[in-house]
Amino acid sequence: MDVEERLRQKKEAVERELERILSQEDSLLFKAMRHAVLSGGKRFRPLLAFSSGACFGVSQDVVLPFACALELIHNYSLVHDDLPSIDNDDYRRGQPSCHKAFGEDIALLAGDSLLTLAFEVMAQTSLEENLLPRKEKVLREISHLSGVKGMIGGQLMDITLTPEELTEEVFHDLILKKTGGLITASVKTGALLGGAGDSELEAIGQYGQNIGLAFQIRDDILDTAQEADKGALSRPNYVSQFGLETAKRRLHNFIETARGVLDKASLESEELHYLATKLLELENKEEK
Ligand code: IPE
Ligand code: IPE
Ligand code: MG
Repeated sequence: MDVEERLRQKKEAVERELERILSQEDSLLFKAMRHAVLSGGKRFRPLLAFSSGACFGVSQDVVLPFACALELIHNYSLVHDDLPSIDNDDYRRGQPSCHKAFGEDIALLAGDSLLTLAFEVMAQTSLEENLLPRKEKVLREISHLSGVKGMIGGQLMDITLTPEELTEEVFHDLILKKTGGLITASVKTGALLGGAGDSELEAIGQYGQNIGLAFQIRDDILDTAQEADKGALSRPNYVSQFGLETAKRRLHNFIETARGVLDKASLESEELHYLATKLLELENKEEK
């Protein structure tokens, strides 16, 4: 089976499990949660978790609940990010954003519920006794990197910093938190479940950080190329801040560094290499 097919199957597995997790009730809240999650994301973070897990000998079944939890956290962050008080985006994945479809009050609660559900899913996962300390480490990593020191801290920088304050160093710090936080948590999840040692964990963390930087810069390049959503508030964008040439150069550099880190640490993973290289493609508009 080639790498694309393997990733396609992993994406289907996460899709099926998310569908199952979100079908426990037919309430308005669950309708809003389903609207937010089951609307066609790339499932990039679950794929990173599966691929990193495979690299450390962890089976897909063991990674699955954590992969779903990471995707639930990602989707909660998007629901809240789109709210009028944050980015004020009317559309997400080509469909009305959660608050446009269900109202701000329900969208706020749907986001809260997705975040809480993510931790419930992980807490409820039963693992063999010897894997329990690894699960604890995963929980620590995911909560840390999606919280104030990670994703939420990055969102704060995104909404408060002025263009004058955004030197390249500060901008990279913003991205490492806002986007790199959850992406790094995703690859670390697979590695921790596989009992990776300190140096391997360090390497996979560096891969995650470089992929996080590349991912957001690519997103900013694609956002700039597409016609901006009229309602959306303007937020820091790598291209408007540093220009398209610099953005493309940095994108290449971060991908190269990510791939180099894997090689240097002798982490052989066709999938992790593939997911990195895929970020160099700038044509595919639907798969932003
Ligand atoms: C969008 O994330 C927000 C960013 C961090 C740039 P994705 O590009 O992963 O969104 P989906 O889940 O595939 O829609
Ligand atoms: C969203 O970042 C990142 C998080 C929700 C943490 P952006 O605002 O740059 O992404 P889009 O453009 O809304 O997808
Ligand atoms: Mg946004």
